[in-house]
Amino acid sequence: MLKYRRINHQSMDGINFDSVLNGLQKELKPYDSKETNILKIPEKGMAEGSLLETLAHYAAGENASWKEGKVSGAVYYGDEPLLSFYEKLYHIVSQTNALHPDIWPSIPKFEREIVSMSSSLMHGEDGVRGAVSSGGTESILLAMKTYRDYFRKKAGITEPEVILPSTAHPSFLKACDYFSIKPIIVGVDEHFRADVEAAKESVNGNTIAIVGSMPNFPFGTFDPIRELSETAEDRKIGMHVDACLGGFIDPFVKDSGYDFPDFDFSLGGVTSISMDTHKYGYAPKGTSVVLYRNGDFFQNQIYATASWQGGVYFTPTLLGSRPGYPIVAAWAAMLLMGRNGYRNEAKKILDAGDFIKKSVRKIPGLKVSGDPLWVIAISSDEMDPYLVWEAMSKKGWMLNGLSNPPGFHLALTHRHTLSTVKEKFVADLGESVDSVRKGEVKASAMAPIYGMASALPKESTDVFLKSIVEWLYSQ
Ligand SMILES: Cc1ncc(COP(=O)(O)O)c(C=O)c1O
Repeated sequence: MLKYRRINHQSMDGINFDSVLNGLQKELKPYDSKETNILKIPEKGMAEGSLLETLAHYAAGENASWKEGKVSGAVYYGDEPLLSFYEKLYHIVSQTNALHPDIWPSIPKFEREIVSMSSSLMHGEDGVRGAVSSGGTESILLAMKTYRDYFRKKAGITEPEVILPSTAHPSFLKACDYFSIKPIIVGVDEHFRADVEAAKESVNGNTIAIVGSMPNFPFGTFDPIRELSETAEDRKIGMHVDACLGGFIDPFVKDSGYDFPDFDFSLGGVTSISMDTHKYGYAPKGTSVVLYRNGDFFQNQIYATASWQGGVYFTPTLLGSRPGYPIVAAWAAMLLMGRNGYRNEAKKILDAGDFIKKSVRKIPGLKVSGDPLWVIAISSDEMDPYLVWEAMSKKGWMLNGLSNPPGFHLALTHRHTLSTVKEKFVADLGESVDSVRKGEVKASAMAPIYGMASALPKESTDVFLKSIVEWLYSQ
């Protein structure tokens, strides 16, 4: 049953919202028709066994695709011995809260060690400071807020602007939205790398920072960080390197025999870096590291007040209460893996990425965008790539849709290094292209959303997408 508050359709001229929701129902709210939705806390508590059974039922249906390596990104490791280890950790530290370093001083100790270990991967020196956030988005929100406050105090900038390549993760736009920073979007070149000249020309008296990604999410390509960093150093502004996706692979790319540029604190203009322990750091979900070249920047991330009746209050990140478990698990993941473990995983992923990239280039009609390493974006000049994406979905692949150019990507993880997964991906892709050529594939529920979203003006797209999200969160 579709149920949602009627929204103002006028601003979404030409869109049949009902048909969009109908299409999405099966994918995003598959249980609505089959299961009873719970609306109230039951008067009498349920039995543990029945709750566990309910969860096992959902998990059985939802875990198969990522376990088989058919999902892009999302689960970065997922092998059993590691999952059981995380369960054991949870048992020991489930009650810890980083908000109370007096009760659990081990948590900030682990956090400091995570910061040091991460910084050492990024050629950070003694003065580097940072914290563990809840994920890449929070690290990026924090870095942008930090630059806003730092340059307000240091340079009197009250109308801050940040220079973002069009491929930068949307969490930067979210930060701009939350913290009243103006995003200045610069394009990318034919290799899907930030346009350095455009970035240089965009710097003005209000600029607080330039952003570069290592790699970016859509195309997995690497921005020219050295050149961007030189501009940042020259103009005395901040430079954030988003290594959320690459932070635990980038340091090992050269060891695996592939070329790789310098991108971290070894470049003088780089003032902050985000790197996600919950992605290729192989920790469970809920942590990322944000690092600053020095404590002056970091001070602007911290919130502290003494004027509350509840006493002195401070938080280094956005959250108040902060579960200790994800921090402990990220710390343990780094120690368990060791540099050697990360290096070995990186090599496997990079080799699988190389195989897929080369194989896709051999499929007539398909193109790889730019020259990525392990996030492989595919587009086409000959056919509608969204139909290929749809044909792949029919074969069980859960890939990420892209726009401008239309296409989709596979972000390789440990799951894709398992036996025969990469070969299966390439074979299925070849068959999907054939089906599209034969006219056998119909557009998916997602394709019209991508089409409509890119055809509409921004305000309408916002209403359109927010209405879909409201529907998702409505009973
Ligand atoms: C390059 C990049 N930056 C930032 C993020 C945001 O990370 P999270 O989803 O953990 O908030 C992602 C997520 O995929 C990413 O790929």
